[in-house]
Amino acid sequence: MTLLDGKKVSTKLKDELKQEVNELKKNGIEPCLAVILVGDDKASKTYVSNKAKACKECEIKSIVYELGHDTTQNELLALINTLNYDDSVDGILVQLPLPSHINKDIIIQSINSNKDVDGFHPTNIGFLSANIKGSFLPCTPAGIIYLLKEYKINLKGLDVVIIGASNIVGKPLLMMFLNEEATVSICHLQTKDIKTYTQKADLIVVAAGCANLLKADMVKEGVIVLDVGINKIGSKLLGDVDFENVSKKASFISPVPGGVGPMTIAMLLKNTVKAAKNRLKAAK
Ligand code: GUN
Repeated sequence: MTLLDGKKVSTKLKDELKQEVNELKKNGIEPCLAVILVGDDKASKTYVSNKAKACKECEIKSIVYELGHDTTQNELLALINTLNYDDSVDGILVQLPLPSHINKDIIIQSINSNKDVDGFHPTNIGFLSANIKGSFLPCTPAGIIYLLKEYKINLKGLDVVIIGASNIVGKPLLMMFLNEEATVSICHLQTKDIKTYTQKADLIVVAAGCANLLKADMVKEGVIVLDVGINKIGSKLLGDVDFENVSKKASFISPVPGGVGPMTIAMLLKNTVKAAKNRLKAAK
């Protein structure tokens, strides 16, 4: 069994990005990411501070806007509008989930798609669906594909099963695997019998937010497993995979922590650098 070491791969990628950031700075461009957090969800606060910390490691400027829970949708739209027109800002990220009085779809659509480093804007999702290269790809799915490629895993023709059909992970990942010519199934809450899918799969991604959902009797020998889950159970951080037992059957498996999580953040930095490079190209 080989561990898919997201910590190691993301560290190498961040070193490369830091060099690109320094090249951009020599050309008068300081890459800049604006991160907006609304409300005081504890997990979101941690994610946002991890994103800002990672920017610092790569010498990318980050501006964090911490807005109160009672911020109105119009106030948030006004801030996004200002950032859309601010030429010194390359990327805009609104941390999800948002408080229930704010419509996330309206917010996502209000971000200039050229600054949408989350890759959630319908324009960027459309480019991904049509397999038109050059747009921003959602960070967690892009991190998974990057990690698999680093380990030279050929995706062509593989039977892939994704558990979880979210807009953030499952659905864009389906497109990415399809673009790599894999055969893809998505299981979700209404799937009658997940095991019938997973037992046949060459590669399984679990992004369900349910600790230990994928068990050893649900997978075949030699399976490749990626665990997107981050479940805080007491003081423990658990993935969606019963790692101890599934790892005995797997050929490759990502751990939690240290697997997909660090790759997600590295992809956000990669998208921000890409946006800054686009700014340089436009200025020339
Ligand atoms: N909440 C959970 N994952 C994400 C993500 O990738 N981006 C944003 N903006 N919010 C999230």
